[in-house]
Amino acid sequence: MPLTRKAYRAAILHSIADPAEVGIEASYEYFEDGLLVVEDGRISALGHASELLAKLPAQVQIEHYPDALITPGFIDTHIHLPQTGMVGAYGEQLLDWLNTYTFPCESQFADQAHADKVADIFIKELLRNGTTTALVFGSVHPQSVNAFFAAAEKLDLRMIAGKVMMDRNAPDYLTDTAKSSYQDSKALIERWHGKGRLHYAVTPRFAPTSTPEQLTLAGQLLTEYPDLYMQTHISENLQEIEWVKALFPERKGYLDVYDHYQLLGERSVFAHGVHLCDDECARLAQTGSAVAFCPTSNLFLGSGLFNLPMAEKHKLNVGLGTDIGAGTSFSLLNTLNEAYKVMQLQGARLSPFKSLYLATLGGARALRLEDKIGTLHPGTDADFVVLDYHATPLLSYRLKQANDIAETLFVLMTLGDDRTVLQTYAAGQPVHQR
Ligand code: GUN
Ligand code: ZN
Repeated sequence: MPLTRKAYRAAILHSIADPAEVGIEASYEYFEDGLLVVEDGRISALGHASELLAKLPAQVQIEHYPDALITPGFIDTHIHLPQTGMVGAYGEQLLDWLNTYTFPCESQFADQAHADKVADIFIKELLRNGTTTALVFGSVHPQSVNAFFAAAEKLDLRMIAGKVMMDRNAPDYLTDTAKSSYQDSKALIERWHGKGRLHYAVTPRFAPTSTPEQLTLAGQLLTEYPDLYMQTHISENLQEIEWVKALFPERKGYLDVYDHYQLLGERSVFAHGVHLCDDECARLAQTGSAVAFCPTSNLFLGSGLFNLPMAEKHKLNVGLGTDIGAGTSFSLLNTLNEAYKVMQLQGARLSPFKSLYLATLGGARALRLEDKIGTLHPGTDADFVVLDYHATPLLSYRLKQANDIAETLFVLMTLGDDRTVLQTYAAGQPVHQR
């Protein structure tokens, strides 16, 4: 239908492979004066403006951004909706932070009106920051997931979420039971999974807050519905790891707990993995599981430094996560700024193109959605962002000194944040305008 066709002219950049596998130069495509053509919510063409404009029917409307960069929408592989209101909770590390701040904050989601209000704020915040897909933790209450999916469906977003399962080691007001968590998850799956661009993720919070019975039922859901996701946390904090060893003495280690309950697999995403050992990385890679690297959270909670080179050595899929509310920014640009510093502290380097990969195609691969999102290849969903070179006076001035797209990209990631995102498009529709 020619009427739904629209074209966007700007500098255009996307990742097409992991720089760790193909080298930096082969990992991206860049069109200094590019054209992106969108038809019925999908990308129908991408190339040099000079070549594509000649073929474009005269009636197709063209938006021209002479001072902006179009990239795929960002993909956040780990974030908590019910922690939107508690970013910046002072002073604690993981386990005390959960008890002091997180559990009381999440308890408010028993109230559907509260859940609806926060879901609306949360989705606006994702889109303001250029995030078009996220893998989202709800609270223990199905209300949180219903609120989120209902809001995401209205905008035809590609989103993944699940209700937290937690039946021990948390306050009574916030626990379910193995059986109720199974039933509630199942009802949410039946209602939302596969509806529009929505997908469900079975969500045991982390090993310490689930009984063996609950972990067994989480695994059972994955067998009953083979295309479901699974999300949880792993090896974030040293005290947490000791606690898991005490709770599951019969298992070899933290990952082995999840392995035993059959929670590893191609659609399983484990948040953090800061203290994973070599064998655990190998096992994650072998099962096709992915890890969400959450630098702002790992620094904020003092959890440690994620070892990306070790993950690369094992060809482990890694995505980027904000981990709001332990993370301190919804912006994946800002998250990449911190990721760079995490690598610096380990004597390693994070190239701008690896960063772009992590925030887009790497996230899509972690979620097994690379045929739909994460690049600007024709045929994929038209989820993209327009990044403004003049978003702030400093960015504008600094970019004038940049000599090539590598430098431009790195500066965008170092100085960029929500202000950098001029527009966000999902399925070809504008869903945020700064
Ligand atoms: N481990 C278990 N629950 C959580 C959570 O809500 N946030 C983080 N960062 N780690 C966790
Ligand atoms: Zn988390």
